[in-house]
Amino acid sequence: MKKLYAISGVTGMTGNELVRQILVDESTDHILGFDNFYASSIETVFDHIQDERFEFFEYDLNNKEQMQDFEDRVKELSPSYDEVIYINCAAVVHTEHFYHVYETFETNVEGMNEFLQQAIRVGAHKYINCSTSEVYSMNSWNDNGGVKENDYLTISVAEHSQRTSYATGKLLTEFFMKDAVDKGKIKGCSIRFANVYSKDERYPKHIIPFIINSFRDNGKVVLLENSRKNKRTFLNNYDSCSAVLALTNTESALDGTVYNVATDEEISIIDLAKLCAKKMHIEDPKIEFEGFRTADPERRLLSTEKIRTRTGWRPQVDLEKGLNECIENYLLEKN
Ligand SMILES: NC(=O)c1ccc[n+]([C@@H]2O[C@H](COP(=O)([O-])OP(=O)(O)OC[C@H]3O[C@@H](n4cnc5c(N)ncnc54)[C@H](O)[C@@H]3O)[C@@H](O)[C@H]2O)c1
Repeated sequence: MKKLYAISGVTGMTGNELVRQILVDESTDHILGFDNFYASSIETVFDHIQDERFEFFEYDLNNKEQMQDFEDRVKELSPSYDEVIYINCAAVVHTEHFYHVYETFETNVEGMNEFLQQAIRVGAHKYINCSTSEVYSMNSWNDNGGVKENDYLTISVAEHSQRTSYATGKLLTEFFMKDAVDKGKIKGCSIRFANVYSKDERYPKHIIPFIINSFRDNGKVVLLENSRKNKRTFLNNYDSCSAVLALTNTESALDGTVYNVATDEEISIIDLAKLCAKKMHIEDPKIEFEGFRTADPERRLLSTEKIRTRTGWRPQVDLEKGLNECIENYLLEKN
């Protein structure tokens, strides 16, 4: 079956790995992808930029003319393919921006819905909506194998912090997705990823590159006070991408509902810093604490039983391997 993929945010962490995993070997699939380089660069897809099966556009999800052009291109190509699949990876993602309700709303909510309506107009078969595990907000873990997709939420609100505006926007996109599927307009689902990281990531404020770059450049790392207690799991972009593809390949799973995608390898932020230091051969690493973030849960542990049962997906890259790749890459960059 020949597939045409339309991918927004294609040079981002999940997007660039999609290019790699879709265009393996003799695949006859084709990708139309765009990104406005808000948080990435063309370098992440350099290995496929000459590939005729991949067409890249420096476009903005919020630019109507550019999106019209993208839609026209999908329409022109789609008759030659058996299936058209939309994957919406474009988003204003990083913690620093979570507080900016207008910025996140425009791209993450309005942009998501515009892209969904475009997919419906062109007659696409499937739409994957990337939501976030941030929607679990203050109750993002339990001792029974992690929070599930249908657990009730306890969300911090504007009384506590503007930070949750990002999560509530993403939560709304899950309703758009469900509505479109329930009304028979398209098949699809939403994904709640937890803490994606990548060896190619260049955004210095995400915790893994932040720790490694701090040790590399300053010989020490300054963490938030929250880090004294906080624990997280980390999902390599190889696995965030393989989860997207596992879902697109499992039609019965595309029922408009939500899937947690995460690992269950929990680590405290302090231990993460110590582990990075050890891997960088730094004995007795200097770790300092400064600042406090409100509305930040101490743990985030997701049950991934639903996606595992329905698609057979499993994460392949453990933290040990993923960190080794990051460190090797970031140190290489410095030399
Ligand atoms: N990274 C995480 O930890 C994480 C966690 C939960 C959910 N998600 C979601 O997963 C999806 C993929 O994110 P990612 O991990 O690849 O992050 P990413 O930041 O690496 O990728 C997002 C991409 O979107 C692009 N983008 C932003 N605004 C755009 C716009 N207006 N037009 C076009 N492109 C735009 C960015 O330049 C970037 O390349 C996003 O929807 C994100 O919200 C990510």
